[in-house]
Amino acid sequence: MKKIFILFLGCVFIQNHLFAQLIHISTQENSLIFQVTKQKKVMQSHYGKLIKNTQGLEDMAVVFNEAYPSFGNGNNDEVALIATHDDGTMATDLFYKSHQQEKEDNIQKTVIHLKDDKKELYVDLHFKAYAHENVIEQWIVVHNKEKKEISLSQFASSAIGFKATDYYLSHFYGSHSKEMMISEERLTNGIKIIETKRGVRTTEYENPTFMLSLNGAAKESHGEVIAGALAWSGNFRLAFQVDDKARCQMISGINSFASTYHLASGENFETPRMILTYSDEGKNKASINLHRWAKKYNLRAGNELRPIVLNSWEGAYFKFDADKLKNMMDGAAEMGVEVFVLDDGWFGNKYPRNNAKAGLGDWQVNQKKLPKGLDDLIDYTAYKGMRFGIWVEPEMVNPKSELAEKHPDWIVQRQNDRKMLLERNQLLLDLSNPKVQDFVFNVVDRLLTTHPKIAYVKWDANRHVQNFGSTYLSEKKQSHLFINYTRGLENVLKRLEKKYPSTIFQACASGGGRVDFSSMKHTHEFWASDDTDPYERLFIQWGTNHFYPPIATAAHVTKSPNHQTHRETSLKFRFDVAMAGRLGIELRPDDLDEKEVKFAKKAIALYKDIRPIVQFGDLYRLLSPYDEDGYAAINYVAPSKKEALLMVYSHEHHRRYERNFVKMQGLDPSLIYEVEEINTDSKKSHISFNHQLISGEILMNRGIWVDLRRPLESAVFKISETK
Ligand code: DGJ
Repeated sequence: MKKIFILFLGCVFIQNHLFAQLIHISTQENSLIFQVTKQKKVMQSHYGKLIKNTQGLEDMAVVFNEAYPSFGNGNNDEVALIATHDDGTMATDLFYKSHQQEKEDNIQKTVIHLKDDKKELYVDLHFKAYAHENVIEQWIVVHNKEKKEISLSQFASSAIGFKATDYYLSHFYGSHSKEMMISEERLTNGIKIIETKRGVRTTEYENPTFMLSLNGAAKESHGEVIAGALAWSGNFRLAFQVDDKARCQMISGINSFASTYHLASGENFETPRMILTYSDEGKNKASINLHRWAKKYNLRAGNELRPIVLNSWEGAYFKFDADKLKNMMDGAAEMGVEVFVLDDGWFGNKYPRNNAKAGLGDWQVNQKKLPKGLDDLIDYTAYKGMRFGIWVEPEMVNPKSELAEKHPDWIVQRQNDRKMLLERNQLLLDLSNPKVQDFVFNVVDRLLTTHPKIAYVKWDANRHVQNFGSTYLSEKKQSHLFINYTRGLENVLKRLEKKYPSTIFQACASGGGRVDFSSMKHTHEFWASDDTDPYERLFIQWGTNHFYPPIATAAHVTKSPNHQTHRETSLKFRFDVAMAGRLGIELRPDDLDEKEVKFAKKAIALYKDIRPIVQFGDLYRLLSPYDEDGYAAINYVAPSKKEALLMVYSHEHHRRYERNFVKMQGLDPSLIYEVEEINTDSKKSHISFNHQLISGEILMNRGIWVDLRRPLESAVFKISETK
């Protein structure tokens, strides 16, 4: 591995009247440049397109704020840091001390060391720039070297400024069964805040991500766009301030709401990573940058194909016994499923888990439902040629459980006999407590050591914090709960990842309540939503794939009419939508008739053939389901560009001439491709030129007419290079 030290600078160069030193963080196409001024202030000079030659920049007037603005240095804007020092004073003024940069293969690492001019408070700004993926990660470490304790009441991960004529912010909001809806708005003077204060299941209502487009609303394939994501599964806050100088400053990090953090002398505080990418070719390029980066650096086993799963939830809910599950396994194996996942309801004896009211926390197999235990099921799955997976929700507890009786002190609670507020009849275990972390770790560890053939764990979390308070944390440190809970969770996930490197983990939280780059670092996939209606999924998956790669997006074919929306859809439409992610099934195979089983079998076999393109390829968003014309379309292109997939969905009625051309993207214009419609349910094709040879240029620049006229109709095409 080659290691090149580029700089180690504590010294300064004087040029004209300015202190001429630039710190250039760069990828193949992006630059983030800081300027160290004569006064030893570190100011942002540029973030955007790569600047190869920075000559002259060091002499230019400073437009943006400090690289890490702190409270008490004269700044009237939002700040990244508020510290109360050992003597109770609150002013912090950070100055440049030194910086280091080193490059190792694809990654350039930078640390900028800052220090308060009066106090022994040190702040290090860390950056990792990924050359090929054009992603820059930033995080901060605050070191308290003051004599006594200090407290932090604001501690952002990143502060970046922009300058444009106007700014459009897309953020991704939702609720249960409606995650990752897109709202785009023009920012006006003032502050727009994207945040959550819910502590756990934090991405259900807002996701810690944004796309900011400069000089006009965002387009998929042109314009300047910055995409950002905070890698944190707890409370977050992304603030965008547009000021009177038409600057926009983004300050992002952990939400400091009710979270004042005390640091003893000698202690450090490390923030989560803020992940940023800049594209001057629109939103889609920014998404591709993040997908490629995530698969390589931020998703467990991002280079391994994902198996096809049958999850028992919508097919059985809490009502099952071994025979019913085995019958589902028979059907799953017959269709070609690779992993059978037993969802909620398999545990609890004194308080059996027969509904959501009892048993959570008692992780012993329910003897009545499964008298022969889990191994009986695991062996049967193996006999059927599949692997076995299991559902857990180890952070939570029903009041009606042996665990709640035994360890009431382990529960997050408001204390002073205040009423416990229930959500889905359950309470939260206090993961700020290391003993509770051990318990949560042991729940999964015990399952995986006792049943080494368990290949997949679905980790659920079905409530927010609400009863804020910890019997473990000291009186003074109650305000650490939100942060220490999240760190506790991360700690457990890391331990499990280390001990079980080949067990697949799914992050779930009432659907898409834990879709973020922190949990993704320790899990293989996430459950994007409990809403499995394919029409609604068009929107949910569309929003999700702005940041998170389709390989990690679990998408299941369920029964029609859909259990959440009661909408009826064809099996083909359901498969065509689910195939755009990590395909799975979530129904009782017996509920399908013979013809449907035949179709499902074919579709699953087909997915096995095309999944490298979906899971490892680049995704292009072509027609948005949000647009009025009632279509949605995406295409995937394999890294070699020799294979691609086109998926087109109609969700409105279209008269004959209303259909528009679908123009693909990302192909090689010089190649000739064969276009073949796949996953068909009738002999008639949706194109008049099935199997014809067409140039990449035509497919991309002229486009093709796909004959989809009815609502909830779809067509999928495989595009293959001809030899
Ligand atoms: C919520 C999840 O999102 C569902 O998929 C299912 O696992 C239930 N919990 C089980 O209680």
